[in-house]
Parts: sequence; C-alpha cells; structure tokens
Amino acid sequence: MTLTDTHAEQIASLLNERNQLTRKYTRESVLEHADNYICRFSEENNVVACVEVKSVQWYQSEVLHLTVAASQTRKGHAKALLCEAERVARSKGARLLQCTIRDGNTESRTLFEGFGFSHVNTFNNPSSGNNVAVFQKVLSNAR
Ligand SMILES: CC(C)(COP(=O)(O)OP(=O)(O)OC[C@H]1O[C@@H](n2cnc3c(N)ncnc32)[C@H](O)[C@@H]1OP(=O)(O)O)[C@@H](O)C(=O)NCCC(=O)NCCS
Repeated sequence: MTLTDTHAEQIASLLNERNQLTRKYTRESVLEHADNYICRFSEENNVVACVEVKSVQWYQSEVLHLTVAASQTRKGHAKALLCEAERVARSKGARLLQCTIRDGNTESRTLFEGFGFSHVNTFNNPSSGNNVAVFQKVLSNAR
C-alpha cells in the first residue's frame, strides 16, 4: 500500500511500543517495505493496528509483528488483519503462512491458534534470551 510518512512513523512507533523487539523500527525501515504492510485506521486517520506480510519462498509467506494499539484491543482488529494477510498471501500464490510468537505471549498464541495456525517448533533467540515458537497454517492441504 502507499504509506505516508506520518503513517510509516505511526507504524514504527506501534511496533516498537508493543513488541519486545531486538531491533527498533524507524519510518525509513517501514517505508523500505511499504508494500508489505496492511493497516487499520481510526476515524482520525491514525494507524491503530498493522501487520507485515512478507514472501519468503514461492510457497511461503510470513506474518510479522501483528500489532494493535493498547487502547484498541479486543475489538477484532487483529482478526481482521489476519484475514486480510491470508487473502494477500493467497493472492501471491503462498501455500503456507508462518509466524513466530515469543513464549508467554498467550493472547497472540490464542489468536493464531484460533485462526488455524499450529505450533510446529520452538527455538531460542540468543539476542533476547526468549524462546520463540514457530506457528504455521497450510493454505493448500496435501491431497
Ligand atoms: C495479540 C494482539 C495482536 C491481539 O489483538 P486484538 O485486536 O486485541 O485481537 P482481536 O480483538 O482480533 O481478538 C481475536 C482473538 O485473539 C485472542 N485474544 C486477543 N486478546 C486476548 C487476550 N488478552 N487473552 C486471550 N486471548 C486473546 C482471542 O481468541 C480473540 O478472540 P475473541 O475476542 O473472540 O475471544 C494484541 O494484543 C497486541 O497487539 N499485542 C501486543 C503485540 C503482540 O504481541 N503481537 C503479536 C506478535 S506475534
């Protein structure tokens, strides 16, 4: 999508505030991948929720840092963004959607499991010390 500087700035702030990230996002780093972002906006045209959908293989897309502003949670924004992320991934030919969730992030885990993702593995991130769970959803079942 076409992102304005203001929206890119808002996305970066949202990502930095709401996730325990080992690298900080900036307006520039968001704009570099502007086409990957899907957002939800307030009536005042501010970003209240966002997600990045990135192609990693012809058959696989990654859903990154699905984030909703603290004041806007439990209103269905995340579910709506996941639906849109899946639609975008399918339109690019993806057969598999993947995301990672830090251990202990129960709300995110419940959300993704409720959306059909399965836990497939867990690894340790030495930079953060967190164990990170890998979740996948198959978009085209084996026959
Ligand atoms: C996780 C997060 C994206 C959920 O956003 P949200 O807009 O509140 O989610 P929704 O309103 O669409 O809720 C969808 C489902 O997620 C689950 N869920 C959301 N918040 C939850 C909570 N606090 N506890 C348990 N389940 C929760 C529920 O299954 C919910 O369905 P329900 O409302 O019918 O019970 C949001 O809390 C957030 O931004 N967290 C911080 C950033 C983060 O950790 N992102 C995930 C990176 S992997």
